[in-house]
Amino acid sequence: MGNEPVYIIGIESSCDDTSAAVILNGKVLANIVAGQEVHRQYGGVVPELASRAHQANIIPVVHEALAQAKIKKNQLSAIAVTEGPGLLGSLLVGVSFAKGLAQALQIPLIAIHHMQAHILSHFIDDANIVQGDKAKPEFPFLCLTVSGGHTQIVRVDTPFKFYILGQTIDDAAGEAFDKGAKMIGLSYPGGPLIDKLSKSGNPKFISFPEPVVQDLNFSFSGLKTSLLYFIRDQEIKDKDYVVKHQADIAASYQEAIVSILIRKLHKAVMQTGINQVALAGGVSANSVLRETLKAHADKHHWHLFIPKLEYCTDNAAMVAMAGYMRYKEGLFSSLNLFARARIPIDE
Ligand code: KG4
Ligand code: ZN
Repeated sequence: MGNEPVYIIGIESSCDDTSAAVILNGKVLANIVAGQEVHRQYGGVVPELASRAHQANIIPVVHEALAQAKIKKNQLSAIAVTEGPGLLGSLLVGVSFAKGLAQALQIPLIAIHHMQAHILSHFIDDANIVQGDKAKPEFPFLCLTVSGGHTQIVRVDTPFKFYILGQTIDDAAGEAFDKGAKMIGLSYPGGPLIDKLSKSGNPKFISFPEPVVQDLNFSFSGLKTSLLYFIRDQEIKDKDYVVKHQADIAASYQEAIVSILIRKLHKAVMQTGINQVALAGGVSANSVLRETLKAHADKHHWHLFIPKLEYCTDNAAMVAMAGYMRYKEGLFSSLNLFARARIPIDE
């Protein structure tokens, strides 16, 4: 395969962002993401509306990616598409489109696991906010994957071999952010809003109890319940309490989530002796998680890899990158590929 130019188009439609990206070997030429405002009024993603919006967006998004990359579709070497996990109806839009394009252009189709793609985004050229001398992690490394549906500590042995060391036993970290945000009157998705609001709040305003969970697993449902009871008790005394203290509550709640994540990650580094640590998934955009983790990594001499913001939340560049890694090994998929709502990362 040598040094020939390899153009991969990535397609991502697992949740509420329709995205297409083109990469040339490891370099991103275009990464177009169309979000879906329609869900905001419902306080969460409505699957049927998401599928319809993906259908409306997919062709314009792909055209724009090709135009921005300044290539014609017949220059593409392969198509990488998110197979799952995610919303089945949404995934089907991307998978059907990719199958059709692969067949029309007679080029390989490459199925990608969404969470593996989040992790492999670290191998995109210039993807990381680098700490220290390494530009990209070396195998094996640990990755804390934190998104709307997942919270896991993964040991990444190769680009194709992932081993879960610990994961949430109830809500995901992103879900905890979104549900907490809703309780204090913020709209969906709540994570970025809590992040923004917290900048003017006191993170020590409420001290939430740290959950007791075995091994390297996480739990966030107790924290959510603590917040619910706290608000209920305060509102009995003052019905405007949440409005008055919204930023302080947000900052304290965010502090608790970040503390749970870093404590377990620290334990994973101690247990494995692996001190190359990466962060991936939508919640890795959180400014306090990024800053706190950076300070923690400095103190404990970890090599830390945090993706730039555009590669934290859902995007097709990470799918294209994961596809490129598979392309180099000839790991192609059949045109019988079907979207799957659930796929273990270590399958
Ligand atoms: O990876 P992602 O874009 O989609 C999934 O695969 O789930 O993650 C979305 C999650 C949402 O729960 C959202 O609230 C959260 O990432 N998120 C954040 C921030 N930006 C996105 N959470 C906290 N702080 C942020 N800045
Ligand atoms: Zn994601």
